[in-house]
Amino acid sequence: MDRFGAYGRLHNPAEKLRIAVLFDGAGLARLGLEQAGHECVGFEIDESKHHLSTFVGSGNSVQQDVLQEGFIESLQHDFDALWASPPCPPRSAARTQGGPIGRFAQVDLTDWALALPFNVLWVENVLGRCANQNLWGTPYNAAQFTRTPFQNRNRMIGGFDTHLPPRLYDERYRRVFPGVCPTIMATEYKGCASDKRRASRFYGRRLTLEEAAFHQGFKIPPAWRTKPDWWQPYDNCGEPVEPTEVRWRNNLYQAIGNGVPVYMAYAFGAVYSGKPKMWPWTKRWERLMAAWR
Ligand SMILES: C[S@@+](CC[C@H](N)C(=O)[O-])C[C@H]1O[C@@H](n2cnc3c(N)ncnc32)[C@H](O)[C@@H]1O
Repeated sequence: MDRFGAYGRLHNPAEKLRIAVLFDGAGLARLGLEQAGHECVGFEIDESKHHLSTFVGSGNSVQQDVLQEGFIESLQHDFDALWASPPCPPRSAARTQGGPIGRFAQVDLTDWALALPFNVLWVENVLGRCANQNLWGTPYNAAQFTRTPFQNRNRMIGGFDTHLPPRLYDERYRRVFPGVCPTIMATEYKGCASDKRRASRFYGRRLTLEEAAFHQGFKIPPAWRTKPDWWQPYDNCGEPVEPTEVRWRNNLYQAIGNGVPVYMAYAFGAVYSGKPKMWPWTKRWERLMAAWR
């Protein structure tokens, strides 16, 4: 058995980091780190998000409760670095109504993640409503990370990262860059023309799944379209509900809206791997965006 044991057949060229991606969701942060040249394994508790992640990038995703006793210790042997994007709703400045979106989103695990014993550690989360909630890292806007900005999305990143990522569009953080699509949210399926809160206000209508994925920096894998037979959705109180096609589609919007923009994770990973500063898909994305607007 190789060094990665149960986590797959990974090799270990010196220039690559072996990164454990906690709270893998549908694998968007992992995809960006893989595009930056690293070997990654994602760990995700939710069976449907884990299922989606197996079609993204390397597909190295393991269904796992990362809070299980002994789990973090088991990673220390096999990984050089760790990326954690814990569930965000309890501290979100962006959410203004309703309960947490998603079944495993109730607890704020940011402080827990910041204490994880890795020398290269990125912890990513939303900005809190109060200034004193935002002292644990640096605020970034996803718009800073590509030559042409694709999305205004404010996120804190902290941990033990000694390298500043290249911010191609603007070195300085700004909460809003004018003329740039607002944050793609997990509730984007609720959008309509008059919506003031979601990215749909940029389009004047609800975004398609493809558009939501585009702004997050990836194309939807065809396998995502098929609702698995075993899938059992739950409402916000944890009660099982019927697994309809609409609920599956909304689950995809949720997975996309909860993700880390692929080009943002790429920027953080690329500083370590020496890959080009510019996200490799920039030109293709710029052409697509020019064709839409
Ligand atoms: C903000 S999302 C992560 C998004 C992901 N990094 C991406 O880029 O697509 C947080 C994820 O943490 C998962 N999660 C919550 N508690 C967990 C736990 N104890 N163990 C593993 N995953 C958990 C949730 O199911 C959710 O998918």
